[in-house]
Amino acid sequence: MKALEGVKILDFTHVQSGPTCTQLLAWFGADCIKVERPGVGDATRGQLRDIPDVDSLYFTMLNHNKRSMTLNTKSDKGKEVLEELVRACDVLVENFAPGALDRMGFSWERIQELNPRMIMASIKGFGPGPYADCKVYENVAQCTGGSASTTGFLDGPPLVTGAQIGDSGTGLHLALGIVTALFQREKTGKGQKVTAAMQDAVLNLCRVKLRDQQRLERGPLTEYHQYGEGISFGDAVPRAGNASGGGQPGWILKCKGYETDPNAYIYFITQAPVWGNICDLIGKPEWKTQEGYAKPAERLDKLGAIFDTIEAWTKTKTKFEVMDLCNPLNIPCGPILSMKEIAAEQSLRDTGTVVEVDHPERGKYLSVGCPIKLSGSPVEVERSPLLGEHTDEILRDVLGFSAEAVESMKDAGAI
Ligand code: COA
Repeated sequence: MKALEGVKILDFTHVQSGPTCTQLLAWFGADCIKVERPGVGDATRGQLRDIPDVDSLYFTMLNHNKRSMTLNTKSDKGKEVLEELVRACDVLVENFAPGALDRMGFSWERIQELNPRMIMASIKGFGPGPYADCKVYENVAQCTGGSASTTGFLDGPPLVTGAQIGDSGTGLHLALGIVTALFQREKTGKGQKVTAAMQDAVLNLCRVKLRDQQRLERGPLTEYHQYGEGISFGDAVPRAGNASGGGQPGWILKCKGYETDPNAYIYFITQAPVWGNICDLIGKPEWKTQEGYAKPAERLDKLGAIFDTIEAWTKTKTKFEVMDLCNPLNIPCGPILSMKEIAAEQSLRDTGTVVEVDHPERGKYLSVGCPIKLSGSPVEVERSPLLGEHTDEILRDVLGFSAEAVESMKDAGAI
């Protein structure tokens, strides 16, 4: 028994944000019916292809455990089928451009008429307001949600991050909204509309920077390196380089081999309770008692210089040696792992966080498995569906269509 067994999802999602959400629900056991345009499908099937004419890794890694049916929802017959699907499913998830579902004839009001228990979940770039009608991709959300202005180094331009916090981050938020609405429906019997805007999701993940904006109004941000370097603050939260977002100063330091290996670095945190251990480890025992170094507040005006000294030590060790020496002393640190190292990491394979999947057209490939582990609902990652692979079986088994009715749909070009 899977946690969401019996829940039917009408999956109208495409690209990344929506598919991440429905993939999670599918992993938890929901029957996820991905509705795609006949002959075209989700645009990502054809984007960034590494093998000609084969579904891209972009698509396959976001659409595991789903069924695919093709349906032209702009044709009359297609609309009839869509109405049946709305009646048969529990949740509709979509991330079309603003207004697209309404133009298709499926406004929230119409969906409620068809199925009052339906939970309709949408991702849009922005919530209500001046940009509500805009189309949005990942980096637009990173820029408008506060991430880009606070990422990067003080003397450089704003930076986007490799973590897809706008797309996959919003998908996660929406998935939580959906299961919460399902939980409420258990008591009320009624569906509801769930929305997650990408700007809002990014801001939610950047809340420490909104914290700092308010702190800045009361004085300099003492844990930012520019404080120690005597560089004055402006009126908005600056880019903090690799400074820790919390109260324990941290920085990325070079390790042995950094001259040739771009990932020979470690994140090193000078957590106050283990300051003595750090001083002993790096050969600076006098800092344990020396004025200007002994107390956390005294160190804030010289963080850059302190990390330079620690780096002189980390440069003599590989990132894994630093990790091995720091861990027993409770010094928090983390080696910078390349994607190559992560792909080869056996412990991630053992937990199902990285999985090898077999696909009939591309063969074996690596994917990210479910990062959320439920002891009573284990995840088995199944390959993504081919375009329209399950059209007939969904029409037949979910909607009760006869073989003749399916054929007439094909003749009418609706599927
Ligand atoms: N049958 C017939 N038509 C279909 C269909 C189907 N099965 N599925 C989709 N369509 C139509 C839609 O109705 C829409 O038509 P319309 O514009 O005439 O109303 C059209 O396909 C395209 O949809 P749209 O969402 O506008 O796609 P796009 O490629 O132009 O834009 C995004 C892509 C991502 C920018 C846009 O969908 C968006 O802003 N989404 C919300 C934010 C989001 O999720 N962004 C992150 C993506 S990772």
